[in-house]
Amino acid sequence: MTRQRLIFHLLRSVFLLTLAGHQIAIPVSAQVQRPQSITARASDPLPSDELLARLPDVFRLATSQYQSLLSQVKSSVDQPRSFSNGALKLVGPRDWTSGFFAGSLWLLYEYTEQPNWRAAARNYTYRVESIKYFRGDHDVGFILNCSFGNGYRLTQERHFRKVLIHGARSLATRFNPQVGMIRSWDFGAWQYPVIVDNLMNLELLTWAARASGETRLRDIAERHADNTLKHHFRDDGSSVHLVDFDPKTGAVKKKQTVQGAADSSSWSRGQAWALYGYTLLFRETGKVEYLAQAQRIARFINHHPRLPPDKIPYWDFDAPEIPNTQRDTAAAAIMASALLELSTFTEPELSQQYRLLARQQLLALSSQNYLARPGENGGFLLTHAVGNRPNHIEVDAALNYADYYFLEALLRYRKLAAK
Ligand code: GLY
Repeated sequence: MTRQRLIFHLLRSVFLLTLAGHQIAIPVSAQVQRPQSITARASDPLPSDELLARLPDVFRLATSQYQSLLSQVKSSVDQPRSFSNGALKLVGPRDWTSGFFAGSLWLLYEYTEQPNWRAAARNYTYRVESIKYFRGDHDVGFILNCSFGNGYRLTQERHFRKVLIHGARSLATRFNPQVGMIRSWDFGAWQYPVIVDNLMNLELLTWAARASGETRLRDIAERHADNTLKHHFRDDGSSVHLVDFDPKTGAVKKKQTVQGAADSSSWSRGQAWALYGYTLLFRETGKVEYLAQAQRIARFINHHPRLPPDKIPYWDFDAPEIPNTQRDTAAAAIMASALLELSTFTEPELSQQYRLLARQQLLALSSQNYLARPGENGGFLLTHAVGNRPNHIEVDAALNYADYYFLEALLRYRKLAAK
């Protein structure tokens, strides 16, 4: 281990131990108490900038919107996914987005410190527990990390840890050593499709490797990340969405951008996943090539001539209809959250650039241009996100993952400002 990696791991261990020291275990409550709205707390930092000043209002809106969402779910299995064309869409545990609502509830608990939000978060977290044994696609990471992962981070409840480790083992069954990657999807005409989004699922593996001592989980994550670096990226730092491999030889068969404007285009959410993915992978492994890749992606986004002045990207950087096409607040929220973490790993000049871009995005997202009006937007927080435009699904919609990464980014911003 190099000296740099040794110092990195020591600092991270101290950080994790400090976090663990502040946690308490709380029993499972079967019934959700409806959370109360909040008022700004005395412990809120003094607003030293415009974004910090807006935070209490944004979280106040978030709590009242999410109370409304909770009151709309009548079953004990569903999760709110989106609000599109006037309809609220609820999903079961196998949907790739099923962990985000619980994740947002945990983030509301983190901000408010109110037990009602913890109870709601726990209830919605347990709704996806069956996914720990699911081997049918790669989204086990997204689902469990946002729900059980946040729950464990905030409560240290032992059972959450077990679920996460089981989930990581299930995800690892999708790794093919010949390809050196985890298979993303089992549907479609592809032989062995791997999408760039899959980087986000690797955090479950690196976390579980640390928690359980199963180093093979971490090896799988690193091999997958190394091969994504090799196959998914273009010279300018942008990525294609999907690479299809021959599962017997590992040879590349085809490259496609399934959810973007064209195979050669840069689908905005794909760029956001890649940026977030390599940032978290550097945090988890200390491998400098991952940091370098995150920086290349950040440069691509920050200097893109078609990134609009308010820094909320169009749904695809190469959408032919620009400027007469949709923005994607989900991509912006993921980017902002990633940039804030990336800013903690880089030298001051770059760090400032990343924070400035994230701050611009968060200021825009927390403005009337993108934030829901109270009581509207189906109960979600952000408007104007794009799910899958080529298939006309959830276009200009509210999406649970847009809200999740927005709340996460705001909490990250507050933490950085408090330092
Ligand atoms: N697969 C995750 C997404 O559509 O962004």
